[in-house]
Amino acid sequence: MTEDKIRELVAKMTLEEKAALTSGDGPWMTKAVERLGIPSMWMSDGPHGLRKQENYKEVKSINDSRPAVAFPCECAMAASFDRDVMFRLGEQLGHEAQTQNVQLVLGPGLNMKRSPLCGRNFEYLSEDPLLAGELSAAYVKGIQSKGVGACIKHFLANSQETNRFTGSSDVEERALREIYMPAFQRAVEKARPMAIMSAYNKINGTHATENKYFLTDVLREEWHYEGCVISDWGATHNRAKAVEAGNALTMPGVNETDHEVANAVHAGILKEELLDEACVQILRMVYTSLEAHEEGAQPRYDEERTVCREALEQSAVLLKNKDRILPLDPSMKIAFIGGFAKAPRYQGGGSSHVTPIRMTNAFEEASRIAQITYAQGYPEAPEPDLLVGIDLVQKEDQEEKGSLEPDAALIEEAVKTAQAADVAVIFAGLPELMESEGADREHMDLPASHNALIEAVAQAQPNTVVVLHNGSPVAMPWIRSVKAVLEMYLGGETIGEATTNLLFGKANPSGRLPETFPMKLEDTPAYLFYPGAGEHAPYPEGVFIGYRYYVTKKMPVLFPFGYGLSYTTFVYTDLEVDTKEIREGGEMHVRVKVKNIGKVAGREVVQLYTGPNGGRVKRPSRELKGFDKIELAPGEEKEVTFTLRAQDFAYWDAGKHTWTLEKGAYRIYIGRNAFELVLGEDLTCPEEAALPLE
Ligand code: BGC
Repeated sequence: MTEDKIRELVAKMTLEEKAALTSGDGPWMTKAVERLGIPSMWMSDGPHGLRKQENYKEVKSINDSRPAVAFPCECAMAASFDRDVMFRLGEQLGHEAQTQNVQLVLGPGLNMKRSPLCGRNFEYLSEDPLLAGELSAAYVKGIQSKGVGACIKHFLANSQETNRFTGSSDVEERALREIYMPAFQRAVEKARPMAIMSAYNKINGTHATENKYFLTDVLREEWHYEGCVISDWGATHNRAKAVEAGNALTMPGVNETDHEVANAVHAGILKEELLDEACVQILRMVYTSLEAHEEGAQPRYDEERTVCREALEQSAVLLKNKDRILPLDPSMKIAFIGGFAKAPRYQGGGSSHVTPIRMTNAFEEASRIAQITYAQGYPEAPEPDLLVGIDLVQKEDQEEKGSLEPDAALIEEAVKTAQAADVAVIFAGLPELMESEGADREHMDLPASHNALIEAVAQAQPNTVVVLHNGSPVAMPWIRSVKAVLEMYLGGETIGEATTNLLFGKANPSGRLPETFPMKLEDTPAYLFYPGAGEHAPYPEGVFIGYRYYVTKKMPVLFPFGYGLSYTTFVYTDLEVDTKEIREGGEMHVRVKVKNIGKVAGREVVQLYTGPNGGRVKRPSRELKGFDKIELAPGEEKEVTFTLRAQDFAYWDAGKHTWTLEKGAYRIYIGRNAFELVLGEDLTCPEEAALPLE
């Protein structure tokens, strides 16, 4: 439907009809307006597969949804560092949404990983805004290429679960501009998502759903966004203020407050044009998505699962591989230890929970190609608390089954199984109880039962490999005693096949950490302030989150941002920069050659960082400003090119409210990760400049 027709329709609606349209019909639909033939559309979570609850009136649990392919979670996808992988995943999700008659997928989430403790980190991409912005833009483009909308979330500064409905993220302007806003801006400008979800939290004291500065001044006026702003479920506190601020749709439907919007117009508190604008946004979304609906679209689960498996193979991060113990030789005697080998943790708890089509596990998959013995190693974990509606509800004190504590008999059996083998592969990680939407983690540790098992097996078997299933960094007190660690994150339903292919070298790991793995929680930049007291969450670390903090303070970490090993080796040569001067309006082209000098094909993530060399303003010593993932056959060499602009060297001057290019010396680096820099070049900026907002 054309823009004119939409506006004509809105002009025909009564004030009451318009007010009613600004809240949904139940939990998942927009309202139809029968008098005018206006249809309703359907939206579903998102973002790692679909959680469609058609018969929502009957379902008892958030986990009760129509089966759908469970994708690798965002924590895993992001480790691909690969825009094509994200696009392909998005296409599959978009297609599946068509088959389920879903018009809008609620995702991806692109909040910054400020602390490893955030309970929803598994649903977010990175601690770095460039990476999160580029990858989410590719995912959104993929979803929308199938005629289905994507709804990026949760706008803005929604980086913790503690006090999630009431807390205020108190963030200084510079950190908002440099860290918390850019991923959203990039996704909006590059991919034009059909919708954006305003967050539960307040930002500097004002509810995100009522925040005119972010929803109108920034989103509409600066970023020229034309899509629909939808409140997170239950995040609207004042219906009229939300519409006034630029939040078009309140979800879920709250018919009982619809009259507040109409009353506010009658009372002259809310301008009717603003309500009209909200209706235009909603109808644009309704008609665009319904017109692109493909009636009769059929699922293509095999194809979808293949894309998910390949994505995960390109996302798993090989953290350690001493003596090149991996890949495993299938003729060895191999023991798989730990319950996750048979029942992997593959997704996070809460609104992104998917009922998978066909789960796989590493034990079954690997047993097809090698002889694998098995020991359980640790007791099953207790059941997690469940989200009911939007609240995490503690289990009633029914008899607690399962435990997180070590079990001596299971450990003893595991040690014996490990000793009888040539190599022991332990499957460990975080059970859902320790990581879910609705609650933050309390620490970074694995369950005591997993740590004790790893210590004991590693002592008895020198060839011990650990495979991890977790959505956020964990401490690894046993890191020196094991030979290899493969981080699988929460990999979705194809985790069994992907893990097997990686362990046995059918796939070469090429994931890189999209977040720092710190040595210990106390080292993390927000440690002293997270999650804040009362209803205020201060963000005094400012722009120094993630690796920006560690590299600037020269602090050792367990594994840095951007880190990951391969079964082959890459060398970097011939860094060339076509101009050494940074100037407003200028462009700089950076070239570097990368060669695979190993014996197997592999993928490398080429990372470009920039940073000031001195200067007046305290800034991160380096920041990611470009990345590219390339595939190289053995012996093959490729040249990678990056284009940089003045903006890539600028900081936000909160006094002047503008991007500023400081005069002085800079450096540009090519790194294997944020810590390991392989090539560099000195640059200068001869003239200070205030850059235009863009
Ligand atoms: C979550 C959103 C989700 C929505 C609908 C909220 O509680 O924060 O991410 O899309 O529920 O399930």
